[in-house]
Amino acid sequence: MVQRTPIMLAVVFLAAVTAAVANATSPMANGRAIFLTGRDLAGRPIGAQRAPMRSSCAACHRADGSGGVHLPGGAVSADLRHAALVTHQKHPYTLALLERAISTGVDNEGKTLHPMMPHWRLSKTDLHDVAAYVQTLK
Ligand code: HEC
Repeated sequence: MVQRTPIMLAVVFLAAVTAAVANATSPMANGRAIFLTGRDLAGRPIGAQRAPMRSSCAACHRADGSGGVHLPGGAVSADLRHAALVTHQKHPYTLALLERAISTGVDNEGKTLHPMMPHWRLSKTDLHDVAAYVQTLK
């Protein structure tokens, strides 16, 4: 027992480190970082076709995605939670439709969104991860 304890501690420590690393590099953690801070996990700021008025999704859509923020030009940020984007839609947002809206400003019905919503220029991975994160907003 006396000799096994350090080994057990080492195993527990390694398991914790492995879990922490996996979590930090997971698509969900990356999507969350982009949404909340406007930077991916590597610390790169997200870019857009034209300089956005605010630099993170949360700055316009709120941290919980509930939206309703009044912005210049009469724009009101959309509610990005599941009920608004899926349950109450005739053509619910899929991952692909979210990626399209985020990168081109075309919504689930094929309509052009208000130009206050930036046309984000993200890597394939970052676009996927932030869209997947939006899908988790309740
Ligand atoms: C400068 C403010 C601003 C920022 C930053 C912003 N948005 Fe938006 N977004 C808007 C506005 C305003 C709308 C609503 C446009 C409309 O009604 O036509 C919108 C609409 C959307 C829609 C379409 C929702 C629907 O109901 O069709 C999605 C999806 C979306 N935003 C996701 C994001 C994501 C993800 C980010 C971050 C990568 C982001 N937005 C950053 C302002 C912003």
